[in-house]
Order: sequence, then C-alpha cells, then structure tokens
Amino acid sequence: MQNLLIIGGNRLQGAIDIHGAKNSVLPIISASILMNGKNVIHNCPDLSDVTAALKILGFLGIKYVRNGSDIAITSRKPTKFTIPDELMRSMRSSVMFLGSILARCGKATISTPGGCMLGPRPIDIHIKALKKLGASVKEEGGTLNFSADNGLVGTEIFLDFPSVGATENVIMAATLASGVTTLHNAALEPEIGDLISFLNGAGANIYDSGNGTVIIYGVNKLSSTEHIVIPDRIEAATYMAAAAVTGGNIKLNGIENRYMTAVNNAFIKMGCNIVCKDKTIAFDAPSRLKSIDFIKSEVYPGFPTDAGPLIISALCTAEGRSVFCEKIFQNRYVFVNELSRFGADISCDKTIAAIEGKEKLYGVHCNCTDLRGGAALIIAALKAEGKSRIGNICHIKRGYQDIAKNLRLLGADIKEV
Ligand code: EPZ
Repeated sequence: MQNLLIIGGNRLQGAIDIHGAKNSVLPIISASILMNGKNVIHNCPDLSDVTAALKILGFLGIKYVRNGSDIAITSRKPTKFTIPDELMRSMRSSVMFLGSILARCGKATISTPGGCMLGPRPIDIHIKALKKLGASVKEEGGTLNFSADNGLVGTEIFLDFPSVGATENVIMAATLASGVTTLHNAALEPEIGDLISFLNGAGANIYDSGNGTVIIYGVNKLSSTEHIVIPDRIEAATYMAAAAVTGGNIKLNGIENRYMTAVNNAFIKMGCNIVCKDKTIAFDAPSRLKSIDFIKSEVYPGFPTDAGPLIISALCTAEGRSVFCEKIFQNRYVFVNELSRFGADISCDKTIAAIEGKEKLYGVHCNCTDLRGGAALIIAALKAEGKSRIGNICHIKRGYQDIAKNLRLLGADIKEV
C-alpha cells in the first residue's frame, strides 16, 4: 500500500497522543553499541527508519527484541565494523553509527549515506571532528574506512556548524575515548540532551552546558540502562499544521511544551490559539489563517527546518503573502512543485519561498519527494476541495507512525490504499 486517498474539507477535532521522537531514538539505538548488557528503551515509535536502524544493529551481531514501543537491546561489542551499502542507503541517519562503531571497534567502514533528497548532505563536519579525536580515514571505491589504531583520544573540538548528526557522533565517539573532550558549537536540539541522558544512564560522564559546549570525560566501559525517549516535536508540529489549515480544534497529549516555543509562536502569528498545560497542547485555529510576513528556519531553539514544509503548506490558504527562508538545507523545497499542483501559488529559489495565500486548493494526484515534504502534501490535501491521491508514501512512513489512523481519529477523510 503506497498511496493515501484524502477527501479534504473536514475540520479536525479531538485528541491524539504524540509518539517518541524519531530523531532521538535513532542516535540512541546507535549509542547502544557502546554499552554492555540489556538496555530497555521505552516510547520508541514504529517507523521504517527505526526498523532500518535495528537492522543495522542485527547486522553488527547485536540482539534486540521489539515489544510495541519498547525495544530491548542486548548490547555487546559488534562482531563487525562495517555497514553494508544497502543498509547505509536505507536512511540518511546511518552515518550516526560511525562514532559508536569507531569507538567500540577501533575502526568503521561506511558508504556515503542515503536518505532524503535535501541536498548534498555531506559529512565533512563529522569527518573533521573524528580526525581531531585521532581517527584516520581512507576513501576506497565509494566507501570510507575509518580507523583509530591507537584508540580515540579526547581533545578540544570546534564544529564549523552546529550539525545535529556530527554533534551526536562526536559525543558517542568521545564517550569511550581516553581523556576529556570539550566540544564547542554543539547543536542544541533536544534530541541531543536525550542522547546524553541515555549515555549517562549507562555510566558515561558527559556534562551538557546547554549553551553549545559539551564536555565528555572518557570512560573505559559502559554498562546498560533503561530510558524513555522524549516526545517528537516535529510530529506534534505536523498535527498542529493539519488542524491549523482545517480551522480545527485539537488536543495533543504527551508533549514536552518547552520544545515547542518557536513552532507555537509561528501558529500564534497565524491566528491560532494555543494553551500549553503540563504535557498537553490545546490548539484552536481560526476559519482562515493569517499570513506571516517573514519566517526563517534556524538551528534550535529557532524555528525547526523540519517544520518548514508543514508551515509553508498551511500558509498556502492564509490571507495574504508569506515569506519563508530556509537556512539549513539546500533543496528543502524539493516538495514545492508537488504542492503547487493543488493550485498553491508558491515561488521559490534556493532559500526563499514566497507564498501568495489562496482562497481554495483543489484535490490532485501527487507524489511525496521526502519525509516532511510528504507531510506537507497531506496537509494541503486535508484543506483541498475534492479528492487527492498521494503516492510514494514510503517517505512518510520513515517519520510518522499511524498518521492516517490518527488523522481519521481527528475526523479527516483519509485512507491508505
Ligand atoms: C538531523 O539531520 C535530523 N535527522 C534532521 O531531521 C534535521 O532536519 C536536521 O538534524 C536539522 O535539525 C536526524 O536527527 C536523524 P545536520 P542531520 O547535520 O544530522 C550540513 C527529519 O526530517 N552538514 O544538522 O543530517 C547539512 O548538509 C530529518 O526528521 C554539512 O554540511 O542534520 C545541512 O545543510 C531531516 N556537513 C546542515 O548541515 C556535515 O558534516 C544541517 O545538517 C553535516 C551537516
């Protein structure tokens, strides 16, 4: 089943639970390679990216058992240090295994990562930082062979850009290095804090200043731990955008409100009413959204790049002209051609998307190009008059568990065919 059929126009109402964060559970699965014994990870979403990450663990000789949203991983030193190309290409985040395999095995072989078409997606920042820790790398026929024959040695590292993945790779690699690593210009995304608490739970000694400096005191070995994954702030933003565009009124449960500030502020600017209480968000949208003169994606705590396509889609029927500026990924707008098929009026260059709000959108056939771009097509289809058919929903399954079921729970006319 690779298509979604949606008949737009229903106002979303009701309450749903938000799942654990994809971008937290993926590095945590990688970090389990550094540990010994049985780890239990709770609140893991059922996503194809998580399945792909667990397949990599299995390939490395590490046993795991999945029971609903719990994953039990029996950590040990991997029996291999290479990730085969087909597993690397199954998701972009597989580069995240580099630091943990290198730290545990003293060497690691990966091919260039696959994943969405968000641009070149280089890993130069990862490589530069791991070299600073003492690794050497050789490129041989499309694979990168890393080795640290004398082990990794703690040092001071400055990231040229606060890359989320590079920050996570350095933290994992430095955890078992000898000596202290001081990492500057580290990414501040909440998923990194979640990774650090997972590692510290198993005996790591990592201090997160919270302002971009992370100090990792290397330890000889880790034991194991039990951990609850933080909620997915981008999944929450997705349902907020779906409610916003349909003039809906929904409640999201199991939220960490402190992660939602930039997203909430954007929807408030669009005329939505948001009440944050404990672990819930009550979200109420006007019948027609206001435009946003200018909004740009930034590293955390700024507006998240992953929510860019969601807000752009909601702004297609807002009153007036909006401008979105993408500062993180080239090709973030790869979905805009498909979104325009609904009758949206969007013109964009590499970083700027100008959206002229329209009264109506009309149902069409379209295809997902990437994960968040696919979610943007669903949001447009929920608003559009008539029937839409969205293909290539494998992209959506990478990052959303039960999205059709949850939207139906909220009153959408949507089914998978
Ligand atoms: C993580 O990707 C997330 N993925 C992305 O979510 C998210 O969009 C991104 O962080 C930014 O928040 C996971 O956590 C699994 P980056 P990552 O390294 O680590 C450039 C989703 O939709 N860069 O912070 O790959 C890079 O090209 C996904 O859930 C280099 O130039 O993001 C990009 O332009 C998509 N060299 C920018 O930095 C490098 O060595 C941000 O990348 C590394 C990155």
